[in-house]
Amino acid sequence: MKIEIPYFSFKKAPKTLKEEWKEAISHVIEQGQFIGGETVELFESEWAKSVGTSHAVGVGNGLDGLAIALRVLGIGEGKTVAVPAHTFIASWLAIKLTGAEPIGVDVDENGLLDLEKLFLLNEIPDAVMPVHLHGAMVDMPRLSKWAKQKGVKIVEDASQAHFASVESKYAGAWSDAGVFSLYPSKNFGAIGDAGIINFHNQEYANFAKSIRSYGSEISNKYFHKIPGVNSRLDSVQAAVLSVNLKYLSDWNRHRIKLGKIYSEKLNPNFNILQSEALNSVRHHFPILVNDPTKVCNYLLENGIGTDRHYPEIAANTYYKFYNKEPSIFKNAKNITERVISLPISQWHSTSEIEIVCEILNEGLDSGKIK
Ligand SMILES: Cc1ncc(COP(=O)(O)O)c(C=O)c1O
Repeated sequence: MKIEIPYFSFKKAPKTLKEEWKEAISHVIEQGQFIGGETVELFESEWAKSVGTSHAVGVGNGLDGLAIALRVLGIGEGKTVAVPAHTFIASWLAIKLTGAEPIGVDVDENGLLDLEKLFLLNEIPDAVMPVHLHGAMVDMPRLSKWAKQKGVKIVEDASQAHFASVESKYAGAWSDAGVFSLYPSKNFGAIGDAGIINFHNQEYANFAKSIRSYGSEISNKYFHKIPGVNSRLDSVQAAVLSVNLKYLSDWNRHRIKLGKIYSEKLNPNFNILQSEALNSVRHHFPILVNDPTKVCNYLLENGIGTDRHYPEIAANTYYKFYNKEPSIFKNAKNITERVISLPISQWHSTSEIEIVCEILNEGLDSGKIK
């Protein structure tokens, strides 16, 4: 039988789930409230409660969410924000959108913000943006303690870590503002662009609501206090997200189970980037190989899709845009040169993941890949 295991595909989503989405969307159409209103407010309050914060503000996407969160905390021109060198480029661009300057910090061997290096920076930044990459969280108890001592604000980029937790507290609830992309293929996603920011503080939430809607006053939409943007979560996405929220814990459990299969069945000579000890919710399953193109091609020839998160160092991409000298980020370089992501999602079966392991192990045994 021909093997066909895509890296990720919505074609694998169950029919019953798609029926639930359609029903929720029909309800929005009948209600006739497409921007804001009760569907969005309901989702915002469900999400705030689920993550463990008092407020959540829906926005158009994760990039805008990060920029709005930073602005709410007073980050803008003349300020600096420490950010991991290796992340999705949006983390860096969001800082630039506010007018502030990103300060790159290398990642550790797990691909997460290296706290030792952060604490040794010559200049204390105004804020720090830990990125919970691939589903694993930065050591937030340690980072929060340092940030509090130094008066540094934290904006978590939790876009890849919905319902990941450390010490029973979820990603996005550890800081002044926790930001989530709700891009469709995330652990928790919409059926289009969407994002959300979690806050513990009502004033911050109100400020974010104002920025997302042209800077208008909440009680009077044609009075503007500040130059805002248009970045609202729409009702169709909110309705679908409320459906998906019921399944997020089960979906994560399934991803974690698939991650365990990889950890147990892959030949130990494969270098798994994030071990079981990190309690990842397995947004991605990255491994490091000597020749990523060769391994991706080998898997593709065998009917298996892969991706690469990420083949460029975000810091150096950013420096290139703004004509700055690239820096040396040793771990980020090693990871970006060698990383590939194996298929993992709530809709992959355990037997599909076993097949991926078998094919990779065979490739190694036969010397086709290294
Ligand atoms: C770590 C990280 N930050 C930010 C973003 C940006 O989110 P969006 O695509 O919703 O703008 C993403 C999503 O792709 C991401 O993975």
